[in-house]
Amino acid sequence: MISKSVEDYLEAIYRLLKEKGYARPIDIAQKLRVKQPSATEMVQRLAKDDLVAYEKYRGMTLTPKGERIANSVYRRHRTLAEFLKILGVEERIAEEDACKIEHDVNPKTMRQLVKFVEFVQKSPQEPRWLERFGEYAGTGKHPERGRKKEGPIGNQQDSRDCESKLITKNGESGDVNLLKKYMEWS
Ligand code: FE2
Repeated sequence: MISKSVEDYLEAIYRLLKEKGYARPIDIAQKLRVKQPSATEMVQRLAKDDLVAYEKYRGMTLTPKGERIANSVYRRHRTLAEFLKILGVEERIAEEDACKIEHDVNPKTMRQLVKFVEFVQKSPQEPRWLERFGEYAGTGKHPERGRKKEGPIGNQQDSRDCESKLITKNGESGDVNLLKKYMEWS
């Protein structure tokens, strides 16, 4: 199993290669806030484990295996950070916390989070429920309080079924038939 620390290093190298085109132990040390000798030592270990390689003119790169892991960590990080920002967490904390959670999150949770973030981001405008959540987070008052709670979807379906049962063979609704009957009686 890959340790959290290896995942952090691979992610840092991946980001540096993306941002700067190169990754030196000094840059890695700065990114991870560790001492440079520690970064050098870890990079040597990563090379031994076939996760990092050196190319003559490019310097350090990720091997296909290293890149696959790094990319997976990076994608987890991005989704988690976006999710936290949707919740209203400030960017700096969202980024820091994403880096902590990314190592332990269950793949099933991750799949749902990816869908959730995509769902919100694909909305043509900020979803109303998210706006209401923002109000609640800011004021502590539920904007929907006092409104009658809707039943579960199953019940709504039942009520639709009940309505459709009122449609008679000739296409008239049950209400119309009742009205006709009432008129005949009166
Ligand atoms: Fe991260």
